[in-house]
Amino acid sequence: MASAFGIDIGGSGIKGAPVDLDEGRLAAERHRIPTPVPSTPRAVGAVVRELLDHFGWDGPAGCTFPAVVKDGVTHTAANVDEAWIDCRADEMLSSISGRDLHLINDADAAGIAEVRYGAARNTRGVVIVLTLGTGIGSAIFLDGRLLPNTEFGHLEIRGKAAERRASDRVRKDAELDWPKWAARVEEYLRTMEDLFWPDLFVIGGGVSKRHDHFLPHIDIRTPVVPASLRNDAGIIGAALRAAGDV
Ligand code: BGC
Repeated sequence: MASAFGIDIGGSGIKGAPVDLDEGRLAAERHRIPTPVPSTPRAVGAVVRELLDHFGWDGPAGCTFPAVVKDGVTHTAANVDEAWIDCRADEMLSSISGRDLHLINDADAAGIAEVRYGAARNTRGVVIVLTLGTGIGSAIFLDGRLLPNTEFGHLEIRGKAAERRASDRVRKDAELDWPKWAARVEEYLRTMEDLFWPDLFVIGGGVSKRHDHFLPHIDIRTPVVPASLRNDAGIIGAALRAAGDV
């Protein structure tokens, strides 16, 4: 079995597990540790180390992160501690954890997992994966190949970043009912489809498991499907990154 280790760094929890890359699923039950507050690179590095120790994993590991990640450097910090801006994160997390660590944008990781094993498996053409969570993450593929670090959650709609109108956090904070929130998501998807003319949208993030509450209210010309790997997509995509398979 080809395997690698994946870690998903989120706003509230840091989760990890070894991944079976032949099957595209977790090879052991995931372990979760709450995200430290403040979530500085050092504090997160200590948790990453604890996770890897928990599984006795000494090989390389991939880590999702909710920011632009280029050549191991995190460049933005929309919903995380500002200390991550221009942080040499691969180097820092590798030195704290004593393993070879590689970061990847969280939506890119979820996207590659969905394209390889999940909802967009075998789909040719242009696929857009959007994760609706605290923010909105985006990953765009042409014939299965990723264009990394797109930040379309920050596309402006009605004078505001899309993620400030249509993320799942906004749905909860503003107590929007499903049809009201779905209308906002639909407006965002329409803007995206007018710009990119994709062949498929995949909607991920925790809320995607409740897709029957909002997808029926969305009527656009592009097919829209829920992500199928659910909460595991990030960990699986991170493991693909660790295996150098991105
Ligand atoms: C960040 C992205 C991230 C998305 C989902 C956005 O605020 O800018 O890098 O992918 O949130 O976490």
